[in-house]
Amino acid sequence: MSAVEITSIRKSYGATVALSDINITIPSGSFFTLLGPSGCGKTTLLRTIAGFHQQDSGIIAIAKQQIENVPAHKRDVGMVFQDYAVFPHISVADNIAFGLKQRKVARSEIASRVADILDIVQLKPYAARMPHELSGGQQQRVGLARALVINPQVLLMDEPLSNLDAKLRVDLRRELRAIQQSMNITTIYVTHDQEEALAMSDIVCVMYGGVIQQAAAPWDVYNSPANSFVASFVGANNFLALSIDGTQAAIAETSVALPQLSSVQAGGKIVAAVRPEYIVVNPANDEDDLVRLPVKIRQVSFTGREMAVAATLASGEEIEAVTKPTSDIIALHPNDEAVFAFPARKVQLFEDGVTGARLF
Ligand SMILES: Nc1ncnc2c1ncn2[C@@H]1O[C@H](COP(=O)(O)OP(=O)(O)OP(=O)(O)O)[C@@H](O)[C@H]1O
Ligand SMILES: [Mg+2]
Repeated sequence: MSAVEITSIRKSYGATVALSDINITIPSGSFFTLLGPSGCGKTTLLRTIAGFHQQDSGIIAIAKQQIENVPAHKRDVGMVFQDYAVFPHISVADNIAFGLKQRKVARSEIASRVADILDIVQLKPYAARMPHELSGGQQQRVGLARALVINPQVLLMDEPLSNLDAKLRVDLRRELRAIQQSMNITTIYVTHDQEEALAMSDIVCVMYGGVIQQAAAPWDVYNSPANSFVASFVGANNFLALSIDGTQAAIAETSVALPQLSSVQAGGKIVAAVRPEYIVVNPANDEDDLVRLPVKIRQVSFTGREMAVAATLASGEEIEAVTKPTSDIIALHPNDEAVFAFPARKVQLFEDGVTGARLF
């Protein structure tokens, strides 16, 4: 399998800069996910790799071969689309065989390769069906089989699961990942669903505004976000204004001891981020390391596995805790006074701004 290297790729549509100076290396056999909000350039990058869009400048190489000027049909990539894009007037087996026929593969080989792939995507009983006789999930399996059967060096997928219902999406997500791992095929996957990206990927590449914000293993993106955009887009986070006076820091008028502040060059505005799962509601014990903030409860909601407790700080800032559903938590009501506490070491500091760099 093959590594993909993308160097200084730029792409504009008229005045819109869709990709500005994209540099990434995708290791051979890895599952690499482009994650970001609508309009950040994910599809543009994927289609540029596929050859459906011409970049303004830059280099794309697969297995060290430059392909940026090779036409799409001669690039050795398989593509799976959000809307399945199966041919409606031919059977499942013929849909899958299509790319092999185009490549003038011998008929006997086509039959055996189609049979193998039908097995892998679990569509054997459906080989003779027409696409309209399949569910959405099954149609997407056809889309996947069609991309895989040509044995591409690289598999590209643009939001392949987003038209499916939530349960099926999770099932198919696991299956897709298992197939990718068993075939060891280098895969570039596009999604705006951060949970999907974390669950499936070897590397998550977070994009915003046509710029790569961070590319790292899922746990690194979650636990060590490079900037405030990544910290807010991947998982939930509370961002609280930090006021600094000399060596004293305060959140919502409560002074807080944050050891990490000592290694931060003061200057400019600083924002403190703390994930909802680190917040303890009304902590019983008196640990020194806890930052304790008085809050007023806004809303308590039960989501099955956990409780989401939304509250307001003295400053008017909103803050949310996610915690196990205990009887004490369930008994909380709007306007109740409470304390939200979290370990000081769990606080991450960022420069102010949408993509403010992490300071600690
Ligand atoms: N054919 C086009 N002509 C002009 N502008 C375009 C075209 N395609 C995309 N854009 C613009 O380029 C930017 C990136 O679009 P792109 O489709 O790559 O985003 P995306 O990350 O895939 O978003 P989504 O999650 O909504 O699919 C957007 O600002 C979009 O409006
Ligand atoms: Mg898109």
